[in-house]
Amino acid sequence: MPCELKPRFLVLYGSQKGQAQSIAEGIADEAEERGLFADICCLSEGHKVKLSKTKYSPVVFVVSTTGDGDPPDTAQKFVKRIKKKTLPRDLYAHLCYAFLALGDTNYADFCKCGKTIDSRLLDLGAKHFYATGHADDGVGLELVLDPWLEGLWERVSLNETPESVVSERKSVLTTQSGQTEAPPAVVEASLTRSLPPLSELALNIPALPPPYLDVMLQEATIEEETNAPVSKETLHEVPISRAVQLTRDDSVKTALLIEMDISSHPMAYQPGDSLEVLCPNRASEVGELLRRLGLEDQKSNRIQLSLRKETKKKTAQIPSYIPENSTLRYLLTWCLEIRTVPKKAFLRSLVECTGDSGEKRRLQELCSKQGSADYNLYVRDHNLGLLDLLTAFPACQPPLSLLIEHLPKLQPRPYSAASSSLRHPGRLHFVFNVIEFPACAGRPVGRRGLCTGWLSDLVDPILVHPGKAHPGHPHPNCSFRLPSDLSKPFIMIGPGTGVAPFIGFLQQREKEREENPEAEFSETWLFFGCRHRDRDFLFREELQGFVANGTLTHLKVSFSRDTPEGTETQTETRPRYVQHNLLSHAKDIVNLLLKENGYLYVCGDAKNMAKDVNDTLIEMVSAELQLDKLDAMKRLAGLREEKRYLQDIWS
Ligand code: 2AM
Repeated sequence: MPCELKPRFLVLYGSQKGQAQSIAEGIADEAEERGLFADICCLSEGHKVKLSKTKYSPVVFVVSTTGDGDPPDTAQKFVKRIKKKTLPRDLYAHLCYAFLALGDTNYADFCKCGKTIDSRLLDLGAKHFYATGHADDGVGLELVLDPWLEGLWERVSLNETPESVVSERKSVLTTQSGQTEAPPAVVEASLTRSLPPLSELALNIPALPPPYLDVMLQEATIEEETNAPVSKETLHEVPISRAVQLTRDDSVKTALLIEMDISSHPMAYQPGDSLEVLCPNRASEVGELLRRLGLEDQKSNRIQLSLRKETKKKTAQIPSYIPENSTLRYLLTWCLEIRTVPKKAFLRSLVECTGDSGEKRRLQELCSKQGSADYNLYVRDHNLGLLDLLTAFPACQPPLSLLIEHLPKLQPRPYSAASSSLRHPGRLHFVFNVIEFPACAGRPVGRRGLCTGWLSDLVDPILVHPGKAHPGHPHPNCSFRLPSDLSKPFIMIGPGTGVAPFIGFLQQREKEREENPEAEFSETWLFFGCRHRDRDFLFREELQGFVANGTLTHLKVSFSRDTPEGTETQTETRPRYVQHNLLSHAKDIVNLLLKENGYLYVCGDAKNMAKDVNDTLIEMVSAELQLDKLDAMKRLAGLREEKRYLQDIWS
């Protein structure tokens, strides 16, 4: 049956953190602006649109992947439903669709959820009318997203039948790490200076997102809420009872351990769980932003939000995370992520907010297709925020409504628990490096990360002024747990602050050993890595204590920047990184994992470390079991499936 594209769109999305949702909303809005009829629906409500009988054509899917290749919570039921083997092979024969999968190549199984749904839809008879896009958050979604959207509208206006467009299973728009086109050489460019060749060109600029909010600032005496939006269900205010700097002052990175007193809060957790901490935007940055927007006098006024009467944005709504009766200062302090890197759509809107022709042109370039390399180089890679841009473009004066429309909700930051409640009842520890963003073009002075900077300020006069953190309920990470069978060996790989959950694991194991003196306990291995033995060997004494009492049977530490005496450089023979130590114990590790059914945990940096460790494991399995690379990869994939190769990684 030929299936025609009708001007009747359905956009279905599965989103975890809102990115897929906001892209889906953008597609639905643009469809309407193009005079088409569009509905939008979350996959969790997918059963209501009865896809198997739908009259919509086309259907556009936007689906993200989370964790280790898992579906977002909102898509879980849908995935389960369409995987059922009993479904008829022609269930979706009438369906004409396009698919955009979002993922992050820093994590295993890039776009796995999207790929699974897409391939199952094809199995059930549905047809692509346009090639699938796989957008990679690791290198910037827009690299694939922008051309994919452009192509989508071209296809829709061609109104081709799907059979004539894409019949085979292929996806043409995939940009994965390492495969991106190198940005063109930049001649004499900077954040605010145009690229000489570009200035002569007509720019390909995204459509102006339609504004949809009206904001009034009402003079009113309201009792100003200055604290975090604490509620019993989500956030607690918890005293910080202790803070310790784990690194020496001359270490390049500063690692802090924070102990929270959770004795008066029902916050049960297990080693391996993580907690999220909500912190306010810095008062100095909020003040600067208020000054820059010319709203300093009105910071205590109440904000009143309403939808513009003339708005055409179908999905427009007043953000639910802005409480009624908020003052302007509260909004900028607790509700909006003011440090976020402005997306191109935001830059496009800023073009309209400056009267300076040079600024207009440069903002147009930065949000244009031709200026993508510049946008990545000057804005995204340097993590520039709104304030940086407003400093660089002094004539730009955006209205408050634009900030609320474009800045995302201020999100709590996740940290792994670094303690066991058996060892420290009523206490929860976590560990982090204080993040530094160095000065760069567009940011004359360096600054610290929002949450880590805030936490380190709270404990600055250590123990003199313990502050209050605002953690939410710990997030259970049900698979990142100690093996329940005490006799199963486990191997932990955690360089730097990646060691945090393993301190919790070992405290727990130590306690279990004390309580079960008769039991047989397995081998335990920890591969830790840092730069210098004397500066940033985190938890050195505690780890040596675990070795001394037999809790940790093998501790392997590598130092990446220590040089043997009398030499200037690291030598080839010394293990530099955790994976080098791993390789020297290949036989034991492969044996423990694949013959003795052991567990492997990796925690820390996703971008480089976790990938390199994975490559090393492939090499080890292949050499030890005499398998080719593909079979070695399959063995590791099997371990992942069995939840015996587990990761808690971040980028
Ligand atoms: P480096 O900073 O000297 O390169 C904790 O951050 C430790 O992890 C540091 O010793 C750091 O080394 C090291 N590290 C950096 N990149 C790594 C990688 N790709 N694999 C493993 N360890 C890495």
